[in-house]
Amino acid sequence: MVISPRKKLAILISGRGSNMEAILAASGDTSYPAEICVVISDNKDAGGLQTARATNIEAHAIERSDYASRADHEAAIKKAINMTRADLICLAGFMRILSADFTKAYQGRLINIHPSLLPKYKGLDTHKRAIDDGEKEHGCTVHFVNSEMDGGEIIAQEKVPVFSQDTADTLSARVLIKEHKLYSKVIADLAKVK
Ligand code: GRF
Repeated sequence: MVISPRKKLAILISGRGSNMEAILAASGDTSYPAEICVVISDNKDAGGLQTARATNIEAHAIERSDYASRADHEAAIKKAINMTRADLICLAGFMRILSADFTKAYQGRLINIHPSLLPKYKGLDTHKRAIDDGEKEHGCTVHFVNSEMDGGEIIAQEKVPVFSQDTADTLSARVLIKEHKLYSKVIADLAKVK
């Protein structure tokens, strides 16, 4: 029997890291076709870094303030990714806009999860903006990353209803449940074909 090696994932985070945790949990099943090889954060206080370290996953805080330029900062992130020979680079709440040089370097291997039904609500405060607009449906999108913020090719989406009593927090919580399932599934699908 030929056992195909699991694809390697580099996960980039800035904060709590619940999507990273969902991917970690999914990969706990040895039949899942991918595993996290490195977690990189631009914020040393990101909760997700501690979670990764507690699970013996390589984790690096690479903060912008430690580098003279954006290019130097991105070069350090690239170096950490490339050292691990990651197959797929997954942005999971990574709050920094990446340069065109960076996105080109990983074209077709760099994905992001965004909390809206793109192309609607690119950028921040997606839940509040959807409620303010009276949307009846909202959701999340996994997409390839290119140089246009939240503008790369859409891979998959999940929808949730918006209720009249929703606040940004209640809506965000409903979307987040979908995010966790969707991101793990898309990664598995990509890992099988890449
Ligand atoms: C998620 O809502 C994700 O869609 C967005 O940032 C948030 C990150 O949450 N890009 P977490 O750090 O994965 O908990």
